[in-house]
Amino acid sequence: MRAGQNERLTRVGAGTPMGELLRRYWHPIAATAELDDRPVKRVRLLCEDLVLFKAASGAYGLVARNCPHRGADMAHGIIEHDGLRCSYHGWCFAASGQCLEQPFEDVANPRARFRDKIRITAYPVEEKAGMLWAYLGPQPAPLVPNWEPFTWENGFRQVVFADVPCNWLQCQENSLDPVHFEWMHRNWSSRLFGNGAYGPTHLELKFDEFEFGHIYRRVREDTDKDNQHWTVGATALWPHAFFLGDHIEWRVPVDDENTLSITWMFHRVPKDREPYVQKRVPYWTGPVKDENGEWIVSHVLNQDIVAWVGQGTIADRTREHLGQSDRGIAMMRRAYEDSIKAVEEGRDPKGVIRDPEFNRCVELPIKHRELFTTSMSLEESRALGDSLAYRLNRPDYQHQIGQPDTVKREYQEAMGMIPEGADLI
Ligand code: FES
Ligand SMILES: [Fe+2]
Repeated sequence: MRAGQNERLTRVGAGTPMGELLRRYWHPIAATAELDDRPVKRVRLLCEDLVLFKAASGAYGLVARNCPHRGADMAHGIIEHDGLRCSYHGWCFAASGQCLEQPFEDVANPRARFRDKIRITAYPVEEKAGMLWAYLGPQPAPLVPNWEPFTWENGFRQVVFADVPCNWLQCQENSLDPVHFEWMHRNWSSRLFGNGAYGPTHLELKFDEFEFGHIYRRVREDTDKDNQHWTVGATALWPHAFFLGDHIEWRVPVDDENTLSITWMFHRVPKDREPYVQKRVPYWTGPVKDENGEWIVSHVLNQDIVAWVGQGTIADRTREHLGQSDRGIAMMRRAYEDSIKAVEEGRDPKGVIRDPEFNRCVELPIKHRELFTTSMSLEESRALGDSLAYRLNRPDYQHQIGQPDTVKREYQEAMGMIPEGADLI
């Protein structure tokens, strides 16, 4: 890859080709419950410093970090019924960005209606699936995709964050990289924590593009082309997520050198817990380094993070050597170029959804959908999971380190693993 293309595909600030493309999509930026716990949150997204808030009326707003009066930090703002008030001189802003009040100006010269002339930069926010989503692009905004798992019932959901100090694109390229499972997750883990034996090798790969991303299919020594690893595959979800049926991992670009990893995880509750309605989707942030400052390598997502940051703050793709295993990555880069061109020509890029009827449920390729959509006892789902090589319904969060005991308790109680108030497993 030429240096110019590396720069074009990685940089996300306003006015850059990729920055303009990514401004055509909604980005998850917080858990809904976070704003219930604390109604103001600092957010940095696509190189912009912003403040997310929940007004007392319940409306969500996302505004510039600095007040348009004299620049104080709106993250120290005061929540009002209709908006967020700067705590320096009391100017108050609606979620639309319109200035509603300027306490001293309104007294000193009310007829000037100075406030009518003042706006703070503001972006739309929507709530979906226990997360808050932001859109920084031109109007009319498309719809927040209603991915199929968001429509599932009887599930325990959680939202998990990690702060990753490198560029988003190398994280996303990992979403279309089947061979890393064999080495990074299977074989490396076996050497670190297991008996050291290597697992089945990959024999054949296939990559396909579809409207909402790219799919990889694989045949390993232990599977054939009747296996859902081949017939269904796994999805790199456009433009910056990885989809594996029961969970979605977004690689949200904070700026050119930082990524917010957000995982939305679904666990179907067992039959005897239905009907189950989750009142609040819990959230937590896991560490990426241990107390000695070493990268954590114990869990799947932590291993991925180690790979991503290991490639450098912004991976230098002028020095790489792509092989057959990387055909999907080459395909994805071409798709970004095509979508950048679409935006430059004033067209909608790939995967933008504007039809509410279609968005009632956006179906995706899901291996063993029945694991998440049918009623089973805990034992049945575990047995089926084991037979399909899914580690289903374990008492511990398998995917990333750091789940707090409070969330573990909610999960184990919801799943019927422990009675309410009992000791954790
Ligand atoms: S700086 Fe915000 S009101 Fe003055
Ligand atoms: Fe991985």
